[in-house]
Amino acid sequence: MIYLDNHSTTICDPLVVEAMLPWLTQDYGNPHSGHRAGVAAADAIDRSTKSVAKLIGASPETMVFTSGATEANNLAIRGVCLHPRQKRRHIVTVATEHPAVLDVCEDLKRDGFRVTVVPVIPAGSPKAGVVDLDRLADAIDDDTVIVSVMAANNEVGAIAPLYEIAELAHRHGALFHCDATQVIGRIPINIAAADIDLVSGSAHKFYGPKGIGLLVVGGGNRRVRLRPEIVGGGQQRGLRSGTMAPAMVVGLTRALEICSQSMESDRASVLAMRDRFWNRLRGGIEGVELNGPSLDGSERLVGNLNLRLASVEGETWMAAAPDVAFSTGSACSNVDPMPSHVLIAMGLSESEARRSARFGIGRFNTMVQIDRAADALIGAIDRLKKLI
Ligand SMILES: Cc1ncc(COP(=O)(O)O)c(C=O)c1O
Repeated sequence: MIYLDNHSTTICDPLVVEAMLPWLTQDYGNPHSGHRAGVAAADAIDRSTKSVAKLIGASPETMVFTSGATEANNLAIRGVCLHPRQKRRHIVTVATEHPAVLDVCEDLKRDGFRVTVVPVIPAGSPKAGVVDLDRLADAIDDDTVIVSVMAANNEVGAIAPLYEIAELAHRHGALFHCDATQVIGRIPINIAAADIDLVSGSAHKFYGPKGIGLLVVGGGNRRVRLRPEIVGGGQQRGLRSGTMAPAMVVGLTRALEICSQSMESDRASVLAMRDRFWNRLRGGIEGVELNGPSLDGSERLVGNLNLRLASVEGETWMAAAPDVAFSTGSACSNVDPMPSHVLIAMGLSESEARRSARFGIGRFNTMVQIDRAADALIGAIDRLKKLI
């Protein structure tokens, strides 16, 4: 199996597993206990929190560890909107957000919130899939509680202009929440410099373990009041009760440290693999097109390729090339037979969306794998064409 689905999840780096193990088998104290074993675990969490905060431009006091980005997004948006002192009743988000944002906003309508879903720049433009800033500016008003825009899209890799979005949100006194799940560990982010109030992330997207994520609360210049989603022991300043998991926190931290150290070289090697992959597929598959922002601008994650076939559906392609792991639409909505809401939001027809496939190239891929995957994918299309 050649794994080219690194937007969906990534391998947990063996170095990360190694860093985690002692916190499961030797130093397994409860970090909230007062004895030596507990204090050792609490210290590890403390050191980790400081390291992660530094790497993303946040202060340690703003960090909350969650089970992943879905929980972080829920805590950010629901937490701000449902705080008892919240008077504003309008949420602004974008049509291509992950369901972990869109569904949360939709659900808040039942609590009396208005939701404006802003469109993205349509297919055909070099910035296809990037939020339309004019429409975003028009949508935000003095009743807007929160503006939730992702840092980079998980299907087409479109990167958002975070500084501009923060400015637009703050002009009206709204908070800016950014789902940075696809960006943390891949490209540099400085939350304080960009003045982002709330930021979500997830370790399994940057070679850490599944089951841990983070939310930065109050990363910008404004005070953020959150109503907790989970109450219990009052851990994490009462924002997320429950015994913290030292091994998971250490794993997330080690993963991010490694990503930060190798970010530039990873970017260069992933870019080279992406270019080779695209050139091979373009040369071998008639009529294949690119979905999303242009490959040569700075508006696209380098490891992302989202392709549209002339006559074969993505699902059929996947079935015909079982040795390559890729996806159609986002992994989390693969149970859903609907075509990708991201591609539809960019103006593609249902048929075009169904003929699309997403690839995510990552640090652990090699050129040899890229060539083998290209051979398998081109071969699959050749076989399918003979059947049509
Ligand atoms: C942009 C984005 N947000 C949120 C999530 C959900 O993350 P998690 O699996 O950590 O809940 C994903 C995962 O696909 C994602 O890509």
